[in-house]
Amino acid sequence: MRRLLIKGGRVLDPAENVDAVLDVLVEDDRVSAVGVDLSAEAEVLDASGLLVCPGFIDMHVHLRDPGEEYKEDMASGTRAAARGGFTAIACMPNTQPVIDNRALVEALLRKTQNMGCVRVYPICALSKGQKGEELAELADMRQAGAVAASDDGHPVQNGQLMRLALDYLRPFDMPVINHAEDKSLTEGAVMHEGSVSTLLGLRGMPAEAEELMVARDLMLARLTGGRLHIPHVSTKGAVELIAAYKSQGFKVTCEVAPHHLLLTDKIVRETWYDTNTKVNPPLRSLEHVEALHQAIKEGVIDAIASDHAPHHQDDKLVEYDYAAFGISGLETSVGLMARRLVHEGSLSWADLIRLYSLHPARILNVEGGSLAQGVRADITIIAPELEGTVTAQAFASKGRNTPFEGWKFKGAPWGTVVGGDVVMWEGRLTGGNKVT
Ligand code: DOR
Repeated sequence: MRRLLIKGGRVLDPAENVDAVLDVLVEDDRVSAVGVDLSAEAEVLDASGLLVCPGFIDMHVHLRDPGEEYKEDMASGTRAAARGGFTAIACMPNTQPVIDNRALVEALLRKTQNMGCVRVYPICALSKGQKGEELAELADMRQAGAVAASDDGHPVQNGQLMRLALDYLRPFDMPVINHAEDKSLTEGAVMHEGSVSTLLGLRGMPAEAEELMVARDLMLARLTGGRLHIPHVSTKGAVELIAAYKSQGFKVTCEVAPHHLLLTDKIVRETWYDTNTKVNPPLRSLEHVEALHQAIKEGVIDAIASDHAPHHQDDKLVEYDYAAFGISGLETSVGLMARRLVHEGSLSWADLIRLYSLHPARILNVEGGSLAQGVRADITIIAPELEGTVTAQAFASKGRNTPFEGWKFKGAPWGTVVGGDVVMWEGRLTGGNKVT
């Protein structure tokens, strides 16, 4: 039997209401005991001064595999996740080909087992080819292991299709994730619509393009009773609508991306059109950013997800209008959020851990979010006071496209344990790649 003993860390498990200095004993791939002064013949990790938490799950990642492996692939993407402190990720289906049938879900899962160093949960396409015309074989893909359905990157414009997806997946309790954007309002747009876009002469996306779709999707969730998850929420109006529906008891959840909490549209001007600031939904103005912070504090936002969107430099080293949308976010998410929301904000570590582990596990209906005896040993270990600087060159991801180069973080991933295997320690990958 494999044994791992994580000694003397501050075990923070909001699901079990645990916050105490304890040892965690892992036997094979399960947590076998959490207690004081445990001893066993085991590999020992000294966790004194560290936070020992249920495994973090990034529920919005673009792995680019299959089809665009020059941007990212299963090995590099999961290594980036491990380095970022994530024991699991959910990957979006906007690959080439689009993950829209059972065979492709199965192939992805096989590749994960062979090449992944963290758990990968496939999100399948909502429509065939993500064309927004016809539902894909959702039940079939669910059976094969898909955890949610989404045409992310290709917002669903057709209300009837969205209604069908919510209705159809209701009995499976499987979330529908729709990138909320009314495309008729964003044609040719490359940043948030406001004074900065006007000043720069760039076409803008109004906040209303997101809010109209959030309103539509919420109404369709109400109509169908289906489970709606709203990804990368970025506007004040969107969180207000979500809060209103939540307060009426509807099954809606949402996530926010770190860049929408940390940057405003002004950064596009300040960096002179740095295409690393180009992302969809776009970086918004201050009133929206402030509303997102308020929504996090009030518990309206359920999860933090990076929307990790790695791109090759050839996709970014072009004029702003032509650059690809996206930020490579797996390796900066936890450190920047810990600094901004815990050290400089009003969230507790337990609050942050809920947003990164318990809630994503619940939304995706996957095991995780707790360190109780008997659960799978997916564990994230954080150095709460560790300070450092974001350096894209050091990323395990192939995508170096970050607007956070040189930013300071405080509180950083120190260890990642997946099914009892230590895949990252002291911030460095160990080379382990077994996902059991
Ligand atoms: O910025 C983005 N990049 N937003 C999306 O919706 C898609 C993503 C990507 O796939 O690059």
